Amino acid sequence: MHPIYGGEKTPQELYDHLSQLDSGYTPEACAEYAEWIHDIKRLKQEHDAVILAHNYQRPEIFEVADFIGDSLELARQAKKVESDQVVFCGVHFMAETAKIVNPERTILLPDLKAGCSLAESITGEALAERKHELRRAYPDLQTICYVNTTADVKAECDACCTSSNAVQIVESLDTEHVLFVPDENLARYVQTQTTKTILSWEGNCYVHHQITPEHILSVRDNLPHVKVLVHPECREDVIQLADAVLSTSAMVRYAKDSPADEFLIVTECGLSDRLLLEIPEKKFYKSCQLCHYMKMITLDGVRDSLRAQRYEITLDEDIRVAAERAIDRMLELSA
Ligand code: 13P
Ligand code: SF4
Repeated sequence: MHPIYGGEKTPQELYDHLSQLDSGYTPEACAEYAEWIHDIKRLKQEHDAVILAHNYQRPEIFEVADFIGDSLELARQAKKVESDQVVFCGVHFMAETAKIVNPERTILLPDLKAGCSLAESITGEALAERKHELRRAYPDLQTICYVNTTADVKAECDACCTSSNAVQIVESLDTEHVLFVPDENLARYVQTQTTKTILSWEGNCYVHHQITPEHILSVRDNLPHVKVLVHPECREDVIQLADAVLSTSAMVRYAKDSPADEFLIVTECGLSDRLLLEIPEKKFYKSCQLCHYMKMITLDGVRDSLRAQRYEITLDEDIRVAAERAIDRMLELSA
């Protein structure tokens, strides 16, 4: 049980907890949430379900989560689940990843519209064509896909990666030429960290791509000592201003362990909420944007998902097996 989010809070305790965020939580809303949290905990037991939640989820969802983490941690966690069901509080490709690595479980996603601009920028078919063209020029070419892709794209790749291990996976491949899809920003960042040749795709995360250097400079000009933590899905000119380039969970660890006590968090806003709740003794400034896909998952949506047993993720078995190979390779290489 998580020391901060675990347990069952009274409506007043929930309000005291969430109103630390200064995000407009009211006592009335928290009273309703407390009821839904109670219902969800009962339904989880009834269906032998666990809830996995990404760091960008709404803070009230953290209250019902069995595990909160970044994409890599969630993939590892999903593989270990022994309960009958997983309700995935995140976006579609994450729930699909859980199904790929743990096909025996029922995986539910509360809203099927919770997509991702990166995952939508590429298809398995388009990738197969590009690989075919590039192999004429680079016979040693290997393909790495970011975890933010659909199963048919993963099925076309030699290995998968996440923001926390992209450089490590590229470095560990026995090849000089790597096609890295679909995030052009992450590909550019990886290129600055390796001597291998990285060929990229034209995709980006619409959330991180909108953040500009001006957003960072406007805070740093007034607070020159602030530590700037940037997600590698950001643009190159934003990454250049970073003190550290980190995945979401690596930002949490960095902020906890660092002797510094003021940070500018440059990623989706949910992560700043997690930091504010978990490390109240430090100060966090936000240069963040909301991911409307992540925010499609709501507490009442989670309750309805468990109640109606919807929406189940299913996959073609051949694609699942091929995609699992790419994920397993990543898990081995970054063990
Ligand atoms: P991580 O959780 O790997 O840091 O990635 C962030 C993200 O954009 C997930 O959609
Ligand atoms: Fe996709 Fe970006 Fe949203 Fe993550 S934050 S789910 S990469 S659109």
